[in-house]
Amino acid sequence: MMLPASLLIGLLCLSHVGGAWGFARLLDDVELRSAFSVARTNSMEGGPKMTVTFDTVYVNIGGDFDPKAGLLRCRIPGAYYFSFTVGKFPHKDLSVMLMKNRNEVQAIVYEENAGEERKVQSQSVMLQLEFGDTVWLRLHGDPRYALYSNTGHYTTFNGYLVYPDTYGYQTHHHQHHPDFASQQPQQDNTPLLDSNQATEHVRSGKGDSVEEKELQHREEEEEDDDDEDDQRSAFSVGRTQSIVGVDQVGMPHHQPVSFDTAFVNIGEDFNVTEGMFTCRVPGAYYFSFNVGKLPQKTLSVKLMKNRLEVQAMIYDDSQGEKALQSQSLMLALKPGDTVWLYSHQRDGFGAYSNHAKYITFTGFLVYPDFPTATTTTTTSQSYADKKP
Ligand SMILES: *[C@@H]1O[C@H](CO)[C@@H](O)[C@H](O)[C@H]1NC(C)=O
Repeated sequence: MMLPASLLIGLLCLSHVGGAWGFARLLDDVELRSAFSVARTNSMEGGPKMTVTFDTVYVNIGGDFDPKAGLLRCRIPGAYYFSFTVGKFPHKDLSVMLMKNRNEVQAIVYEENAGEERKVQSQSVMLQLEFGDTVWLRLHGDPRYALYSNTGHYTTFNGYLVYPDTYGYQTHHHQHHPDFASQQPQQDNTPLLDSNQATEHVRSGKGDSVEEKELQHREEEEEDDDDEDDQRSAFSVGRTQSIVGVDQVGMPHHQPVSFDTAFVNIGEDFNVTEGMFTCRVPGAYYFSFNVGKLPQKTLSVKLMKNRLEVQAMIYDDSQGEKALQSQSLMLALKPGDTVWLYSHQRDGFGAYSNHAKYITFTGFLVYPDFPTATTTTTTSQSYADKKP
């Protein structure tokens, strides 16, 4: 049985920021938002000081990012999405690593120091962070390497909290997670709470105790439920080995790119060895993938939804050395839909990776589906008026 309060919160959660806001109210001023976006306006050469620092701050919600130190210090444990873009300095190699504490997570590389040209490369990944964890970018310490930027802001770094953990989440079932409760879509056709009424609760600011009580009640109910009721879904996986196409007799079998490292797999919807995401919670998902180019090979990787190509990545330059390509796309998924990457399997094609995980694939649920779209729209607009 669904309770109106959980629906109300669910509707407020239509945007991440809104969701965190509605959620924070329920937890009595616990601030559960964290986001940063920073840029660097000058170049940097490889040397003993390897941490990439920033001088321009676009966003720093929660103040968790220290631009002078160049690092995010986790205040709210949870799953974070990061992306970074780095410019290549003419006549230098590019090698920048995303670091979690002292560990290398993911790299950007562009090796062609003879090259006069400037280029930018991008990467993205999702990471599970605990309180105090740091995330930062490290430039290779050799002066052979450099990153390029100027007031055009070629070098940028972003991150935001997608799914906060809360008390009990690590040690108990996901159901204790209030964010989970808040994102629970209506599946049993419970009459929807009148949207004006819902908005009034928020506007008057009097609804808190009722909401809290109902949420608590709801959480108690959820303890009896199974894990499969978790309405969160996110994965981020990496591959540490290259893919090399080989000549085959007949049509090559369309095999998904498989992975060997899981950074995040909330809901266990991604089968790492198989390389396939299977939708459990219907809704709109954001996907991004990064692939390295093998020297002398053509890079051709496709994002697949079921048996259909939905986005293609190509890098057809047999002269080129190591480089990276990144793409992203949002998809509406129904339960059972699969999303996977396909790398062209013929001879002459390939994708590069090693321990630095140039091949990564990330996806997460942005908005779960709700059965009544009109109510959803009305309420979120009302909420938007209220946004500080
Ligand atoms: C992943 O897929 C493989 C191949 O289909 C299967 O054998 C395996 O059981 C799956 N793993 C999980 C955790 O579902």
